[in-house]
Amino acid sequence: MKRILVTGGAGFVGSHLCERLLNEGNDVICLDNYFTGSKENVVHLLDNPYFELVRHDITEPFFAEVDEIYNMACPASPVHYQYNPIKTIKTSVMGAINTLGLAKRVKAKILQASTSEVYGDPTVHPQPESYWGNVNPIGVRSCYDEGKRCAETLFMDYHSQNDVAIKIIRIFNTYGPRMNPNDGRVVSNFIMQALRGEDITIFGDGTQTRSFQYVDDLVEGTIRMMQSTPDFLGPVNLGNPNEFTMLELAEAVIRLTNSKSKLIFMPLPQDDPKQRQPDISLAKEKLDGWKPQIELEEGLTKTISYFETKL
Ligand SMILES: NC(=O)c1ccc[n+]([C@@H]2O[C@H](COP(=O)([O-])OP(=O)(O)OC[C@H]3O[C@@H](n4cnc5c(N)ncnc54)[C@H](O)[C@@H]3O)[C@@H](O)[C@H]2O)c1
Repeated sequence: MKRILVTGGAGFVGSHLCERLLNEGNDVICLDNYFTGSKENVVHLLDNPYFELVRHDITEPFFAEVDEIYNMACPASPVHYQYNPIKTIKTSVMGAINTLGLAKRVKAKILQASTSEVYGDPTVHPQPESYWGNVNPIGVRSCYDEGKRCAETLFMDYHSQNDVAIKIIRIFNTYGPRMNPNDGRVVSNFIMQALRGEDITIFGDGTQTRSFQYVDDLVEGTIRMMQSTPDFLGPVNLGNPNEFTMLELAEAVIRLTNSKSKLIFMPLPQDDPKQRQPDISLAKEKLDGWKPQIELEEGLTKTISYFETKL
């Protein structure tokens, strides 16, 4: 039985990861300060004697004897990470320093949840891991993008300087049950607006594209990455390469919810990337042929069922 620490474990992705790791017979410590996550996301795990829930802020050092660390703690949606930008960058940078320090001390393997935001508004399409990105260092998204870039640097430096066993994944837009309904992300916005019969807000003209990965596909890729050969550190992209325009997404949500909502158009927010699509060839090659299995319709249907319980 492995002892595994999941920081941000009470969040959307973290809670699915904790659940899967427990189901595979591991001993899981879920650490969270409940900034964007909640006990409700993991309440169903509390009866399991191998699950421990710890209220802790990762900007402060934490100590536990563990074999593996998944560092997921960080608000992920623009409304939440822009609410307190200084705290966001502290969570990424000091959170990385504290978890890497722990990994070094107890000789644990550690995985960093990085993001496609490290590519900024990309000039290369789709984005391979070798692309260095096009990030505005002083814009409204910088607290998140630059914090995550700095965390990647720290991971690489702890590996080269202190021989810590590290792994880095770059997560592209992910959705599914337990997303926060009020996080302002496009999938949750569209579904909540459609279920309430409100107008669906499209920023820009709706032709900008995104790719959407269902959470189970991400969790599978994340665990495969942790178990990959020691010489493969990443970063590796985990995302669904199927691209959809915002208009296509809105139409799919309206159809699947049988909603009568109308589309309305608003100005694009600052620094909003026009296109984002992962190149997943490296993940396929290094993670035993990993690729997303869940199509958008299937994933949206499961997510809509969850949001119906939140109305
Ligand atoms: N969901 C996505 O589309 C996506 C895309 C790219 C990267 N990611 C990354 O994946 C990770 C999980 O994202 P998510 O979508 O589940 O977001 P989330 O906001 O639901 O989860 C983040 C969790 O971290 C916790 N947290 C935040 N600051 C903390 C702190 N200082 N100390 C302890 N806990 C703290 C929150 O309370 C929450 O439970 C994040 O690191 C995020 O940057 C997610």
